Amino acid sequence: MKHILLGVSGGIAAYKAAELVRLFKKQGAEVRVVMTQSALEFVSPLTFQALSGNPVHTELLDTDAENAMGHISLARWADVLIIAPATANTLAKLSCGLADDLLSTLYLAATCPVYVAPAMNQAMWNKIVTQENVNRLVNQGVHIIGPEQGDQACGETGFGRMTEPVSICTQLVAALSDHASLSEPYLHGHKVLISAGPTREPLDPVRYLSNRSSGKMGYALAAAAIKAGAEVTLVSGPVALTAPANVNLINVTTAEQMYQAVMFRASENTIYIGAAAVADYSPVVSDKKIKKEGDQVTLILQKTKDILAEVAALEQHRPFTVGFAAETHDLEVYARDKLTRKKLDMIAANWVGQEQGGFDSEQNALQVFWDQGEKTFSMTDKAQLAEQLLGLIAERIKAS
Ligand code: C5P
Repeated sequence: MKHILLGVSGGIAAYKAAELVRLFKKQGAEVRVVMTQSALEFVSPLTFQALSGNPVHTELLDTDAENAMGHISLARWADVLIIAPATANTLAKLSCGLADDLLSTLYLAATCPVYVAPAMNQAMWNKIVTQENVNRLVNQGVHIIGPEQGDQACGETGFGRMTEPVSICTQLVAALSDHASLSEPYLHGHKVLISAGPTREPLDPVRYLSNRSSGKMGYALAAAAIKAGAEVTLVSGPVALTAPANVNLINVTTAEQMYQAVMFRASENTIYIGAAAVADYSPVVSDKKIKKEGDQVTLILQKTKDILAEVAALEQHRPFTVGFAAETHDLEVYARDKLTRKKLDMIAANWVGQEQGGFDSEQNALQVFWDQGEKTFSMTDKAQLAEQLLGLIAERIKAS
């Protein structure tokens, strides 16, 4: 039986945590609840005690509680720690390692996977310091679930609503089984080729055209594929990231160089994931710096080669081919069109141009389509999303 340690901090969404306990229990988990002092202002510990069937932990220095199950044994007991809701204050405390109450101390003592589901007013969520705290937690290996966009208890609308308990429960159950399967190298024997990041198309000796891709999704996929036992080659455009250990890294700059690097290796691989934001058009390069003359300047752009479509069209030794689609509208229509037009095995689509997720963000949500089906992965950090997508790829390869 899985041991789930649920931390509840003090926000209005605390009442939804009661539903989470019920859902976890329904999945057959053993649940223990830790509440912060401000959570006690929102919901009675009796509610959590009745639903979990266990006493609720609230104090760091309580002799009786420490005798029964102290903070270190509680941290050891947990297979997973989930903090829902996680307030801005709790995120700030965890991100810098404060340990001035039971929940923050448990976070430091825990060696199990940690998930947090933030919930707060949209302006608080968007504050740079909160985003920095979230990024620090992601870098510490914490998985962030949500928050979602919508109406808030304070009357405002935006990102900050806690992800619904049903969705948190589904993600946690999937993650618990993923963590189990991660110990089995489910991509053992596979060779995975991943393209990542933007390309840079020179205009003249000092200027170029590019895009806001950070490469984070492609790099997260490379790390997850290594963990899953695959041999990984990463063809990367210019990014500010360090490649995961044991990855065969090939640095490129332009779309043409990325094309050459991918096509040269594609048929040696069993899986190709095109996660790069390849320039669709490339300028005709001027060998001299373009001078500032006149009010307007006209650039002539030439269509680049579609790497993904060419890999998918390979007649021999064609890898299982997965593309990405970043869309601002009609996501499913455009994604399905790319799936059929480029003859892909799978396409992972995400919204861009929104407040959260997509390019240059730590988090993302994906809607994945294949010939006979689809699956939605809700907003989470890119490391977890990468594991979920690779798990699905492995499942589809097995089924085909
Ligand atoms: O057609 P669109 O550019 O929107 O398709 C996106 C997908 O195609 C991504 O997987 C991207 O890596 C790939 N692509 C490519 N070569 C291009 C343009 C896009 O491989 N020249």
